[in-house]
Amino acid sequence: MTQELSAWRGGITAIAHSNIALIKYWGKRDVTLNLPAAGSISMTLGGLNTRTTVLFDEALRSDELWLNGQRVDDPKMSTFLDRVRRMAGRADFARVKTANDFPTAAGLASSASGFAALALAATRAAGLSLEPHELSILARLGSGSAARSIFGGFAEMSAGQAQDGQDSFAHQLAGADHWDLRCLVTLCAQGPKKHGSTDAMIHTAQTSPYYEPWIDDVPQALDRARAAILSRDFDALAQVSEESCLRMHASAMAAGPGILYWRGVTVELMHLVRELRAQGMPCFFTIDAGPHVKVFCLASSAQALEAKLREVDGVLGVLVTHPGQGAWVEDEHAS
Ligand code: DP6
Repeated sequence: MTQELSAWRGGITAIAHSNIALIKYWGKRDVTLNLPAAGSISMTLGGLNTRTTVLFDEALRSDELWLNGQRVDDPKMSTFLDRVRRMAGRADFARVKTANDFPTAAGLASSASGFAALALAATRAAGLSLEPHELSILARLGSGSAARSIFGGFAEMSAGQAQDGQDSFAHQLAGADHWDLRCLVTLCAQGPKKHGSTDAMIHTAQTSPYYEPWIDDVPQALDRARAAILSRDFDALAQVSEESCLRMHASAMAAGPGILYWRGVTVELMHLVRELRAQGMPCFFTIDAGPHVKVFCLASSAQALEAKLREVDGVLGVLVTHPGQGAWVEDEHAS
């Protein structure tokens, strides 16, 4: 099936970057409303983009989704659009076109940029103009990490306490030009990830004896990471970010059965990053629910570091990303 250009006339297009958590979100206090059990802190990744167009059309009999040029069925997206329809008081279905400019097949998380772009495009297409924190709440209902991609630079997500989740949204800690960091996304395997993060974090909460200690530990990590970002203290951010990554993975590995995302090359890269740091190159690693290693460094050492990472056996590629803008509507000013 092909898409006719005329079918998209009048649609609203939004673009959002992916983000990488420095302090990880891994656990929910409410699965239905998708409320995180603890806060998290991320950098928005300029260079990894999702571009989404939404058009409500009274002639449609159901929602229609096109992903990277292919027609696909996605009940999660229709549930998301139902919320937007309720908010806007309308009943018509939508045509949605979405594409990632980074390799989807590589198993990189696309739900963060995907739901952030969809939240913005769908609300605007439905005639709504939400405040950033309201967009963040909406994006969170699609995917927890998406709540952070509404904002540029460095974002902090609050777990909140309200049962309805109205205090569970992200805010910007510092803008994209606050700190010229680079995040080198080092690809370690092809294909989709083995355990989706939603199921894996629920499984961790249900079966890992390390889950509660992990959640209890997050507030001190948030305080340290927030302070390190605001004062641009690279060494402090390196220390707390690696701790958060390893503690998240430790809690998942200790589940029954244990969840293991790393490949051999993942571990080799962690050792290399620590060796380079010991030799005086400021860099640190973090890893999400997959095998890829994201290596942070200062802009001045990005080129040298990229060359080192590419030398490691099993590395399939390196994507160099930088602090990016928050989600924006095409042809409008980004914030
Ligand atoms: C390891 O946001 O994908 O990347 O809310 O269930 O959609 P859902 O989960 P998701 O989880 C992200 C987990 C993580 C850490 C992080 O991004 O904070």
